[in-house]
Amino acid sequence: MAYTIIGCGSALPERTVTNDELSGFLDTSDEWIRTRTGIETRHVCTAESLDELAEAACRNALASAGLEVSDIDLIVCSTTSGDHLMPAEACAVAERLGAACPAFDVSAACAGFVFALDVADGYFARGRAKHALILSAEKMSRLMDWEDRTTCVLFGDGAAAVVAEAGGESPIWTHLVTKPDVASLDVPGLAGESPFDERRAEAPASHLTMKGRKVFRFAVSSMEQELKLLVAETGIPLSAIDHFIFHQANERILESVCKRLDLPEEKVVRTIHETGNISSACIALALDRLDRAGELHEGDLAVLCGFGAGLDVGTCLIRWKKA
Ligand code: ACO
Repeated sequence: MAYTIIGCGSALPERTVTNDELSGFLDTSDEWIRTRTGIETRHVCTAESLDELAEAACRNALASAGLEVSDIDLIVCSTTSGDHLMPAEACAVAERLGAACPAFDVSAACAGFVFALDVADGYFARGRAKHALILSAEKMSRLMDWEDRTTCVLFGDGAAAVVAEAGGESPIWTHLVTKPDVASLDVPGLAGESPFDERRAEAPASHLTMKGRKVFRFAVSSMEQELKLLVAETGIPLSAIDHFIFHQANERILESVCKRLDLPEEKVVRTIHETGNISSACIALALDRLDRAGELHEGDLAVLCGFGAGLDVGTCLIRWKKA
């Protein structure tokens, strides 16, 4: 059955935070952050809730698709930083939109958008949906230890969504990988207040910790491996691909992958300098940016590849054909 993406939308918090602002309260500098990561600013929630951003992204995607919410049969949201532990972020969005379809979340960190697309693809394949909203919404600022310069300078907040319609050529190829490893990138769950929990006192705070160098190496080698696998399994050479939409974690990761695979810089999308790492929302946001800039043409091939906590990697090849 497969699907076609027929609409894109996104929403970022109004407030941008510069590297210089961070160096006002952290032992860091614009020079360090720029040269080690490529990040110049990030958007951070102040008055907005993530529910509001997610709703705005979905409304923009629906408008771009020319559909009403009553046309939607499924809402899948990828998030690890939603406004609610329960219900799913997707349910909060469904309520705001007035949707009456199944709505649930997928948790696969920065690879989440590609995992969520794959879930929606299953609904299309089984004839269970004609139109699906696939959303990524992340408020990474709530997971940070704002005294830890090794992590809090890297992330930002935002939401982005696509509307997919059953039928079409996408995905041409999908591959999801999990290399189980919690310690390399972890946000512990809430400690809770159970009087029966003998380990409550030693429970760590719900802050993100990361073994940066290890994740860096994992990201570069996984992306190289996945793209080589794509070529081997589809017979489509990388030179035939028009857009490489990779997770935006570090400019140096993007440069390393371009160098290893000899990818032309102009085909590799970059938003990292402006948004930092918005986890699973990076890829969906980049799609929306390309679409609105008129850079996605009918028949274009785009690779989407996300990697992150899990450690998860999700890669797919789609053909662009917006209605
Ligand atoms: N400002 C100034 N100095 C800093 C900062 C900072 N913000 N952060 C770290 N440093 C220091 C370190 O303390 C260290 O100092 P030392 O040598 O005196 O010990 C030095 O800079 C070098 O630190 P490294 O960690 O080796 O720096 P590196 O060049 O590896 O960059 C980074 C760190 C940016 C985290 C990089 O490793 C990276 O991008 N890793 C991948 C992250 C990633 O891909 N995440 C994706 C998944 S996110 C998700 O799933 C939610």
